[in-house]
Amino acid sequence: MKQVKLGLLGFGTVGGGTATILKNTLSEIERRLGGDVSIQIIHIAVRDLNRKRAVEVDGAIMTDQPLDVVNNPDVDMVVELMGGTTLAKTCIETAIENGKSVVTANKALIAEHGNELFELAAQKGVSIAYEAAVAGGIPIIKALREGLAGNQIEWVAGIINGTGNYILTEMKKPGADFAKVLKTAQELGYAEADPTFDVEGIDAAHKLTILASIAFGIELQFERVYTEGISQITAEDIRFADQLGYEIKHLGIANRAEDGFSLRVHPTLVPKSVLLAQVNGVMNAVMVNGDHVGPTMYYGPGAGAGPTASAVVADIIDLIRAEHQPQADRVPGLGFALNQLESAPVLPISEINSAYYLRCFAKDNAGVLAELSATLAEHHINIELLHQEPSSQNPDDATVVIITNQVKESDVDQAIQTLEAMDAIDGKIMRIRVGALD
Ligand code: NAP
Ligand code: HSE
Repeated sequence: MKQVKLGLLGFGTVGGGTATILKNTLSEIERRLGGDVSIQIIHIAVRDLNRKRAVEVDGAIMTDQPLDVVNNPDVDMVVELMGGTTLAKTCIETAIENGKSVVTANKALIAEHGNELFELAAQKGVSIAYEAAVAGGIPIIKALREGLAGNQIEWVAGIINGTGNYILTEMKKPGADFAKVLKTAQELGYAEADPTFDVEGIDAAHKLTILASIAFGIELQFERVYTEGISQITAEDIRFADQLGYEIKHLGIANRAEDGFSLRVHPTLVPKSVLLAQVNGVMNAVMVNGDHVGPTMYYGPGAGAGPTASAVVADIIDLIRAEHQPQADRVPGLGFALNQLESAPVLPISEINSAYYLRCFAKDNAGVLAELSATLAEHHINIELLHQEPSSQNPDDATVVIITNQVKESDVDQAIQTLEAMDAIDGKIMRIRVGALD
């Protein structure tokens, strides 16, 4: 069994989320790595050693000296989740000098100092992975860098700050107060240590810098991004936009123009009919237009412990595959090594759980609906919604439409068989599965 020992810099929202995943999902992660690699966090740096942590760890592995972690010869890989661009930069440079690859969620650092850091990493033959730096849990870096590599990217546009989108969404509610909503976003772990980065668009500009660099193959140029935040948007602006058929969204937009590139971050009126307008709360969405694929869109939670740590752990897995696995196992064709595939059965459709839309023609007589609902109840089915109207096909019938609760498909099939055999029901019952997918 190979051991990969991690050093964590930071054990706050994202650091705690990363430790939680590595604790709760470790066996699945190790299975993805072929079953012969184990991952262990062996050293963690924080600022305040006395603070209570979301995840319990042995106090002996904690330090308030981040450089001790990157200089620890037993640490194979450094995971930087402290934030900031001074100490974090020194730590990452030291880790690289020490021959260790780095995973980071620090978009400020990548956007402002990435050019030099990638140069240093290339010289030392190590990697810097930063999927978590843009759009939280959405694997947009991978999509742009690998999935769309056959295209010339024409433009990238999206909602790339979860806090800002959460604020704009909440501000639509009557009586919402900007300061209170921001405080909630901070409590939920969405906001930056200095939330002016979120509300003044700086965080989105960091992310746009990174997206533009990968999309167009240009250097990271944070200082060239035109940046406007959402702090001047009032509830009244949101209401007027709504009346005119728009949502106000804070967008990052990177365009390939004839004689260069345009990079900008600002509030934008987006027509309600456009998908981006329906991205609410902490959710992010990034649209990428490639010359061959056309417009594509990537959606998911843009901030918070679980989503961000999901991207951090994916990077850890990628780097372990690249550095510790034989060439053939680096990216297994099916995601897991062949000897790690599970033999669990694929369930028949009769075993699925779903809500159902049922439509039938029922005799328009007293007691029929009671009989219908009693039959459903016998098969463990509750009615969530019932609609009845005169049938357009037979004056003696009513059309009855029912939405059920979540039930097993075999129960619905049996109920339908019973109902169709009843005198009160005319013809076949129409059944459509209701998919909420939330
Ligand atoms: P956080 O909750 O404030 O955690 C920061 C952690 O770093 C804390 O554990 C803190 O220690 C430690 N730390 C800070 N300065 C330190 C120092 N000088 N020495 C030692 N430890 C230090 O921040 P976060 O939300 O997890 O964000 C971490 C990074 O991820 C940032 O770069 C952020 O931009 C990025 N990010 C965050 C999210 C998100 O949704 N939160 C999403 C994507 C990317 P104490 O706990 O003792 O204070
Ligand atoms: N503060 C950032 C946001 C965290 O709200 O989007 C995720 O990068």
